Amino acid sequence: MNIQTSAPAKIILVGEHAVVYGKPAIAVPVSSLRAYAEVEPSSGGLQIASADLDEMVPVDISAATIDNALALTARLVLQKLAASPPEVTIRLHSDIPIASGLGSGAAVSTALARALCAALNAALPEAELNALIYEVEKVYHGTPSGIDNTVIVYEHPVYFVRQQPIQTVVIGGDFMLVIADTGRSASTRSAVDGVRALYDSRHEQVQALLDDIGELVAQARGCIERGQAQALGDLMNRNHALLQQLTVSSPELDRLVKAALDAGAFGAKLSGGGRGGNLIALVAPDSEGKVTDALTRAGAARVFTTILGRRARC
Ligand code: PMV
Repeated sequence: MNIQTSAPAKIILVGEHAVVYGKPAIAVPVSSLRAYAEVEPSSGGLQIASADLDEMVPVDISAATIDNALALTARLVLQKLAASPPEVTIRLHSDIPIASGLGSGAAVSTALARALCAALNAALPEAELNALIYEVEKVYHGTPSGIDNTVIVYEHPVYFVRQQPIQTVVIGGDFMLVIADTGRSASTRSAVDGVRALYDSRHEQVQALLDDIGELVAQARGCIERGQAQALGDLMNRNHALLQQLTVSSPELDRLVKAALDAGAFGAKLSGGGRGGNLIALVAPDSEGKVTDALTRAGAARVFTTILGRRARC
């Protein structure tokens, strides 16, 4: 038995939070940063070992409630395939930082589900796997839009609108993105809850912000399809300002965004749930080094570059 499966990280280019309220958002996979699952024979029933979380999860599929996301993933796969737990240990490890806006939870669950299917010699169509990971996402996020699982399972750039068929985005040029981690993990669930509280208390004002985000996402799609980096950068800056007003930025994120812009980035914004986690900066190739240095000097815990392009996938 030599089974290894994986799934990528993701970034949201534009539209997070508003996507929960039915607005579009654009997300792309980061294929160079991944979660992995490996299958080993065992004699103790199905076990899931997570190196990063330092835990071993025995999977009891008859348990009445399963609030552990890994055990829930396994149970949903077994139910879907009408299969009994195989005698294997599935070892998970992930290069994706946890709770930082890069989709680590959905990626780990996707790699796990694929490994369990492979151990059972079965396959789940991607649409079914996507629906299953969405169920698991609810454990992490409460009311997820579904964008994370979709971009991670399909590993394609997506223009995502909740409860609508998935649309892929055509990439019309090369876009260089510098991704920087504030080093502060943050709960997406509490950021989403915070926006919900604001929405309930100042409905009209917040609705106007969400509408503005929805409009700029539609424009961003055009920029991506036409390969217009400068114009996309401007829209990212506008998006960050609107996210600040939704109270999901943080002093660290704002400091790093400013550092990237001062160093010549076309645009920069938080990506994902916010209040910590990662930001993305869109740069010209000749300013990448300067922006990376500036972000490091401004305190980023980790900085790396990825290219969203016609040839290279992120
Ligand atoms: O923090 P992340 O990477 O899981 O991104 C969540 C994106 C939100 O729009 C904030 C929530 C959602 O479910 O779409």
